[in-house]
Amino acid sequence: MNALAEIRTRFADALVSLVDDPTELLGMIRPAKDATFGDYQANLAMPLGKKLGKPPRDMATEIVEKLAVDGLCSNVDVAGPGFINLKLDDEWLKGSLSAALVDERLGVSKVADPKTYVVDFSSPNVAKPMHVGHIRSTVIGDAISKILSFAGHKVITDNHVGDWGTQFGMIIYGYKHFLDAAAYEKDPVTELGRLYKFVRQLVDYHAAKGKVDDVADKIIELSGQVAALKEKQAAATEKAETKKIKKELSAVTKRLDSQKETGDGLKAKIDAIESNPDLIGIANAHPEIGQQVLLETAKLHEGDKENKELWTEFLPYCWEDMRKIYRRLNIEHDHELGESFYHDMLGDVVSDFEAKGFARTSDGAVCVFMDDYETPMIIRKKDGAFLYSTTDLATIKYRVDHFGADAALCVVDHRQHEHFDKLFDAARLWGYKDIELTHVSFGTVLGDDGKPFKTRSGDTVGLESLLDEAESRALAIAVEQNPDLSEEQQKHIATTVGIGALKYADLSQNRGSDYKFSYDKMLATRGNTATYLQFSYARVQGIIRKTGADMAKVRANPVPFEFATDIERELAVKLARFGETIDEVLVEYKPNLLCGYLFDLTQVFFQFLEKCSVKDAETESLKQSRLQFCDLMSRTVERGLGLLGIGVIEQM
Ligand code: ARG
Repeated sequence: MNALAEIRTRFADALVSLVDDPTELLGMIRPAKDATFGDYQANLAMPLGKKLGKPPRDMATEIVEKLAVDGLCSNVDVAGPGFINLKLDDEWLKGSLSAALVDERLGVSKVADPKTYVVDFSSPNVAKPMHVGHIRSTVIGDAISKILSFAGHKVITDNHVGDWGTQFGMIIYGYKHFLDAAAYEKDPVTELGRLYKFVRQLVDYHAAKGKVDDVADKIIELSGQVAALKEKQAAATEKAETKKIKKELSAVTKRLDSQKETGDGLKAKIDAIESNPDLIGIANAHPEIGQQVLLETAKLHEGDKENKELWTEFLPYCWEDMRKIYRRLNIEHDHELGESFYHDMLGDVVSDFEAKGFARTSDGAVCVFMDDYETPMIIRKKDGAFLYSTTDLATIKYRVDHFGADAALCVVDHRQHEHFDKLFDAARLWGYKDIELTHVSFGTVLGDDGKPFKTRSGDTVGLESLLDEAESRALAIAVEQNPDLSEEQQKHIATTVGIGALKYADLSQNRGSDYKFSYDKMLATRGNTATYLQFSYARVQGIIRKTGADMAKVRANPVPFEFATDIERELAVKLARFGETIDEVLVEYKPNLLCGYLFDLTQVFFQFLEKCSVKDAETESLKQSRLQFCDLMSRTVERGLGLLGIGVIEQM
């Protein structure tokens, strides 16, 4: 039951004699924005008319004459300059709702050509506490995986954790110099976390000291430029000149502000150490800590016995912390092949690139030069070390060779876009031309001030505290709304609502944009929130309960759907769009389209409830038809939220 797909097929048939490849034109058939014109609108007569040299209205009429939509559409009109408006046939609609009612998949068919997708998501660097930035990759990747799999594809989820990087050099260095043995004995996870933070702080301190003077110089220089430009601006008389200066001034001011911000950041790192007499002593005693950490990391990579043993000892502790978060988010991966998994393959990657002539040595480093980029992609450093890119190349190879991937999606922060652009081009050069390689990127989570979300003290916000807060706020709502429920039930609601709100707040945003984090907004019982949808779902369950109907029985003896009012038809059209929405989401991997759909559906449903009584419907068959609507609506919301990784509650 996918009206849009069906309409597109019919159009494809009609266009056969007119164009070779109708794909682009078919994309111009869309759900109508204004229902008064019909349910779908095709805007393809304009471009096609232009191409074939025919007036668009005539073109539209010609297409409509060729179009065979009997049984699917009851009305096809040509309007305005050549829009084709289509109205679904009521009997077709009713038939598809009836089919959906008795189908566990709600009438959504599986794709005809299933593919194998590897979805790489969450992928944090272990040993560093997970923070707010990780929530996006985790929930977006999980939702995309679930939706792909519902659509009928084979999906392999992989957590490409960073378990091999400098953070281990830091912990190893910390372990060797600053270990509190008793604390480690008692609670290794916490002690390792402390060591990481501590060493990191010292490394940052020395790095900041090295940079702060440069930044100060830049600030002086840029301030000078700003002052000079301001003078020039005041003296300028011509409009064009003023405009030019203004533009320049704004660019320089931006650079100045960014340098100031960097400078403040560096100063804060320095102050944190220098204001503490104990710390400054330690920092001074470890002046080379930055290099030492790199050395420990290199030793680990080279297979140094002691470091490898320490790494093996630490890794499970690091995982323990992350598992806690995944359990709370109810997220699992099929595989957790971290960077370390690929380490032994990296030498071969580099030699293969060299042997095939795709990489050459430049300044001692092995580089892949590609036309579209100013700088090459380095796959082995001068000192012999491999890079993130080398690992990612090995990863692509493994995903194709081992998993038979047709597509690999990497759900990663937009700031890594250059890495992925280069990586995918290099992989294509290497021979992986036929697989889809996509960086599913996303924007930053912002605080109220529009800057990256931080705690009051300027630290990144830990994921754990985020979950705690969302749940405790949801609990307050649950207690207020359901004072009579048992404590256990209230807690269950709090978890489902709190975690659901957090996930949905993220998923309902266009993933490319930054979004502002707000507990109040995400837990609002009105508007496009999980909380609203969960409440609505529970309300429908309440309505069904009140009629005393047993839905299993209703489904076993269905009646034909009735459109006694316009709103019932409108609801039918909305319900019928579930499958189409799934397709739309997968075009550009945008779960927000599913959120938008569920929200629209729910709003139409409440209009239906306002206008149509279920319990007191005029006839028994109408009552049952309306009950069937309630059933489809609640199952669609349940399934839709489920695909987003969010649960529902029967009563709240
Ligand atoms: N661990 C990386 C980070 O935190 C993300 C890895 C994403 N996946 C990949 N194949 N590169 O930045």
